[in-house]
Amino acid sequence: MTVRIGDDAPNFTAETTQGRVNFYDWKGNSWAILFSHPRDFTPVCTTELGTVAKLMPEFAARNTKVIGLSVDPVESHHTWEKDIGEVMGTAVNFPMIADPDRTVSTLYDMIHPNASDTATVRSVFIIGPDNKVKLSLTYPASAGRNFDEVMRVLDALQLSAKFPVATPANWRPGQDVIVALSMSTEEARAKFPKGVTEVKSYLRTTPNP
Ligand code: BEZ
Repeated sequence: MTVRIGDDAPNFTAETTQGRVNFYDWKGNSWAILFSHPRDFTPVCTTELGTVAKLMPEFAARNTKVIGLSVDPVESHHTWEKDIGEVMGTAVNFPMIADPDRTVSTLYDMIHPNASDTATVRSVFIIGPDNKVKLSLTYPASAGRNFDEVMRVLDALQLSAKFPVATPANWRPGQDVIVALSMSTEEARAKFPKGVTEVKSYLRTTPNP
C-alpha cells in the first residue's frame, strides 16, 4: 500500500520491545514518528537507533512519540538493544516493532522489492495528532538518516500547523517564515504584528511567530 501525505496513517497492532501496541492507542493525540530499519545487527541501523535514543528528550518536548520497526522478531531486537547500549552509550528508550510477517512494512510500503525482497528501506513517517501523514522520507539501506533534519522538519510542520505560514529552504527555528499563499498581505499584516515584508506579491515574509 502506498501511504501518501494527507492520508490517514494505517492503524495496526504489533509486538514491540515494550509490549503489544495498537498504534492509534499508543499514539493518542501526540505527533508520532514511525521509522524502519532494514534488519537487526546491522551497522548503520545501530548508529541510527542510538542517535534517536539520545534525541528522545527533544522529541518529547515537541509532544512527539517515536516508534521504530525492523522485520526481525522481538527477542532479536532485545539482544540487539544490548549491543546498541554498549556501542552508542544509551539505552533504546522507545519501542521497536517486530514485523517478521511484514504486516506493518506492507501497510506502509516499506519493502521495495528492487532494493530487497526481505529487508525494509529506511522509511520515516511523521504523523500528526489527527493521525494523518504529514511527511514521508525514504532512504536506502546504505545511507544513515540525518535526524537533525527530522527534528528540523518536525519543527517546520508544527509551526505550519499552528500558524498560516510555510518555511523557506534550509529554514531553522527562529528564522523568518513565509506567509501562506492563502492570505492577502493586508490580512497578514493584521495577523502578524511583528511585520510583513513583501518581497514579491507571492513571497511575503514575517519573523518567526
Ligand atoms: C546497515 O544498517 O548498516 C545496513 C543494513 C542493511 C543493508 C546494508 C547496511
